[in-house]
Amino acid sequence: MALRSLRLQLELLHNLGIRELYKPADSRAELLARLQAAYSTCVKCQLHTGRVKFVYGEGDPNATAMLIGEGPGEQENQTGRPFVGAAGKLLDDMLKAIQLTRSDVYICNIVKCRPPGNRDPEAAEREACLPYLLEQIDIIQPRLILLLGRVAAQTLLETTLSLEKLRSSTHEFQGIKTYVSYHPAALLRNPNWKRPAWEDLQKFRDDHLLLRK
Ligand code: URA
Repeated sequence: MALRSLRLQLELLHNLGIRELYKPADSRAELLARLQAAYSTCVKCQLHTGRVKFVYGEGDPNATAMLIGEGPGEQENQTGRPFVGAAGKLLDDMLKAIQLTRSDVYICNIVKCRPPGNRDPEAAEREACLPYLLEQIDIIQPRLILLLGRVAAQTLLETTLSLEKLRSSTHEFQGIKTYVSYHPAALLRNPNWKRPAWEDLQKFRDDHLLLRK
């Protein structure tokens, strides 16, 4: 794990150019904006061939919580914003139900370019994109992470356990309390999961209140 993390950090340095990295940024927002611009022409994996917009992430750069999904869909690819399609509308409603808005949290994805036909991102694509997410986590330093769906959970937690198993407890990612719940798109397909998702969300809300920065 330590070696992997070092390799990812070195890859980031290489991709960005060392001088850029050491130019101080005045704020997290400015740093994120600068990195987004630097990475938006990324060609590290095949997903760039279908890219209209690089979907880096959005929300409060000083947020208590980061919400992490799988990857951009069609509307996200067109607009450059995460979770703006049908699943995004449901995510907005879920946040509203716990008295939050998308500007209270930071929302992003495991992969930043759209997988064709909304297929799951492949292992090589997730591996190529992960340094961007790890860097976002490093910059934002959330106190809570909510992983939306199996792909996000298995990728960040480096496990093959099922979503059900992963939902059944909280986790730690680099010392950050991490929740796993259903992906909003899965909730649209399976309304029966809305009840357990609401239970997950209430626990997340309670911790969000407790851990608020
Ligand atoms: N939109 C996103 O930004 N991410 C997802 O995982 C699904 C839809």
